[in-house]
Amino acid sequence: MFFSKKKLSKEKKISIENFKEHVSSGKVDFYQKYNMDFVMGFREGPWLFDIDGKKKLFNLHSNGGVFNLGHRNKEVIKVFKEGLNFYDIGNHHLLSKPRADLANMISDLMPGDLDYTIFGVSGGEAIDTALKIARGYTQRKKIISVEGGYHGHTGLSVQTGNAKYKAPFLLDSPDFIQIPYNDIEALKEILDNEVAAVIVETIPATLGMPLPQENYLKEIKELCEKKGALLILDEVQTGLGRTGKLWAFEHFDVVPDMVVLAKGLSGGIYPISATVIHKKLESVFHKDPFIHISTSGGAELGSLVALKVLEISSDKEFLQNVNHLSEEFREGLEKLQQKHNGYFKGIRRLGLMIGLELKDELAGPIMTKAAFDNDLLIVYANNDTSVVQFLPPLIIGEKDVKYVLKQLDKSFKRAAFLYKTLQIREAIKSFLN
Ligand SMILES: Cc1ncc(COP(=O)(O)O)c(C=O)c1O
Repeated sequence: MFFSKKKLSKEKKISIENFKEHVSSGKVDFYQKYNMDFVMGFREGPWLFDIDGKKKLFNLHSNGGVFNLGHRNKEVIKVFKEGLNFYDIGNHHLLSKPRADLANMISDLMPGDLDYTIFGVSGGEAIDTALKIARGYTQRKKIISVEGGYHGHTGLSVQTGNAKYKAPFLLDSPDFIQIPYNDIEALKEILDNEVAAVIVETIPATLGMPLPQENYLKEIKELCEKKGALLILDEVQTGLGRTGKLWAFEHFDVVPDMVVLAKGLSGGIYPISATVIHKKLESVFHKDPFIHISTSGGAELGSLVALKVLEISSDKEFLQNVNHLSEEFREGLEKLQQKHNGYFKGIRRLGLMIGLELKDELAGPIMTKAAFDNDLLIVYANNDTSVVQFLPPLIIGEKDVKYVLKQLDKSFKRAAFLYKTLQIREAIKSFLN
């Protein structure tokens, strides 16, 4: 045991025991080992409090964008509460006003002919839908994705991911091929007329936010067009203002055939996801619209929430604030990089989609612990653990930026200290391998 234990309240102790016995023994063991057994209690804005009120965390992960608008956003809650006077999940067999309103708004906010939306509950489900449509429309089977990208854990989405998410479950399929990120030559070699789609995150979060090289996405689209394949952009993390534009692909002069939205569309309140498709692709469902069913996908209460989320996130001033905060963080982070340059090597940044490059693959997990000890929730990138993801809520202010930078400074000091302990390094090494 490297870290000493604190006395727990009864409520917290029971929650942890129940979690260990009935939800995940592995997670409890992991968090207890590092003295990070935080149990989520009250939450508001960027803050999460432990159930016993003894610890707080400033959320710099935002659950990959779920909490773009902070925890329990007041405007979102108001719409949800009002919705409860009239609506419920709705019935997926029938026509629906909130669902139609939401699809209409998404179409208005998307460029080109991205005019139809198929709703789901989770990101993985929405990716599965996109892949089904790609196969249905092209009548081809092969799907190309990027090594280290992540699109979900459901049936088809998991197939696009790295082997570590598939091999333990015997999920390998030869129709899913991965290529290195930012390597257009690799794509040229493999993209033939058996490929249904290329799927890529506009900025791959689980790979640690490497930005696409100039023209990379545009060239993918051109190659797809040449070969009759479709381009699916996963904006589950990058969408809804995270990068300073409503959709991250707007930075790269490209319009995909499909866009996938999830996480933040929920406002952190009601899960909902969207597969937004070029209008020509809707033909796949025209003859028999009942071959693709999602009972709670596009739930009416969720649709009301998502309408509010889109209204807030597409507002010009909201996006200006994201860009302003991005600059504030750039300045502060560059100073911290100079100060802690043995540990903190570089900054990847587009708006508030930020990755902090650290010295090696052990440094990300150690920084996660060091930040936790300084009241910051930061998570390392699972497919490149030398990077920590830095995704603050988009609604914070300058005072918050100052607080975060101050705590980060202390966190880097602590991380460098923890890194020196051989026992900690060995434990992390064995977990990662
Ligand atoms: C980029 C991206 N796409 C898809 C997903 C899958 O979303 P969900 O967990 O809601 O199924 C995730 C989840 O982390 C993600 O980060």
